[in-house]
Amino acid sequence: MKKLLILLAIAVGFSAGVFVVNRAVSREEKVVQPIDFSHALHAGKYRIPCMACHQRVMMGARASIPNIEVCGACHSTPMKKTPGELLVYRYVSRHRQIPWYSIYHVPDYVYFSHRRHVAIGKLDCKDCHGDMASLNSPPTTQFLQIKTQNCWNCHEKHNVTTDCSHCHR
Ligand code: HEC
Ligand code: HEC
Ligand code: HEC
Ligand code: HEC
Ligand code: HEC
Repeated sequence: MKKLLILLAIAVGFSAGVFVVNRAVSREEKVVQPIDFSHALHAGKYRIPCMACHQRVMMGARASIPNIEVCGACHSTPMKKTPGELLVYRYVSRHRQIPWYSIYHVPDYVYFSHRRHVAIGKLDCKDCHGDMASLNSPPTTQFLQIKTQNCWNCHEKHNVTTDCSHCHR
């Protein structure tokens, strides 16, 4: 595992932010991801830290979803040759971006920053995304629904501003 993390650190150095992400259009849309990715395996069993893959989460507004530049650190040769692994390997070896869908996104007229909440506010990913490290398949619904009321309630609890202009700039 240590070797895997070193490989990852090397790849991270080269993966300067080319991310292809599709947005799920509505809350009702049923999302089928191109690969049945398991957080339970990667973040749970192998303990790969969230920010090793979601590399912008501490410094940007968006967390970013990793693609072949990151997966390739470990999947540039098939390990156990399971069908799932071979699928990632095919994207990596053909330099094809994995067309992930993102189910969490605020509308354009709302301002939300991960850096503010995670790096400065010291909130846990779990507060808004639940226990991702226990999921065997990609999430299909938002854990904490992105609704004014849910943002608002937590702000009141933490004595943070509920002034309209801070979330709607
Ligand atoms: C730090 C190393 C590392 C990185 C980075 C990594 N993986 Fe893995 N992945 C593993 C290991 C270890 C396994 C388990 C191999 C096995 O036991 O078959 C695995 C297995 C898998 C499997 C097969 C699971 C199954 O049940 O057959 C898939 C699919 C997968 N990874 C997708 C991805 C994707 C997509 C990315 C990039 C977003 C990624 N991995 C990044 C280490 C990594
Ligand atoms: C205060 C609530 C909150 C916390 C804490 C939080 N997130 Fe998010 N997350 C959101 C919201 C809201 C969005 C939608 C953001 C957008 O559309 O810009 C989101 C989107 C995402 C996405 C989708 C892709 C992207 O680029 O934004 C990922 C991945 C993600 N978060 C990972 C994380 C990780 C990892 C952590 C912990 C290190 C974390 N989040 C902590 C609320 C949160
Ligand atoms: C090996 C890389 C890897 C690690 C480690 C990882 N993730 Fe992810 N994450 C992904 C990939 C790939 C996706 C897109 C597929 C999916 O939804 O499962 C994703 C999706 C997500 C999403 C859904 C984003 C959306 O808008 O659909 C959230 C939230 C998230 N991850 C949070 C976390 C948290 C919290 C951790 C740490 C406990 C973590 N991730 C660890 C690779 C990773
Ligand atoms: C803590 C963040 C936050 C604050 C404070 C906030 N909003 Fe919002 N607002 C959101 C989010 C997130 C959405 C999009 C999700 C939704 O529709 O609930 C939204 C959506 C909206 C919409 C469009 C959706 C609808 O319900 O028609 C309007 C209009 C709006 N807000 C007005 C306001 C006004 C006026 C205030 C001040 C009294 C305010 N907001 C304060 C986060 C916030
Ligand atoms: C789990 C609790 C929690 C949730 C949910 C949450 N926030 Fe926050 N938010 C905080 C905390 C705590 C801070 C203060 C961070 C700091 O600066 O220490 C903050 C700060 C902010 C700020 C900066 C406020 C300022 O002073 O200018 C904005 C903007 C913001 N949040 C928007 C949102 C939006 C939009 C949502 C919903 C999509 C949301 N937040 C959901 C806890 C939360």
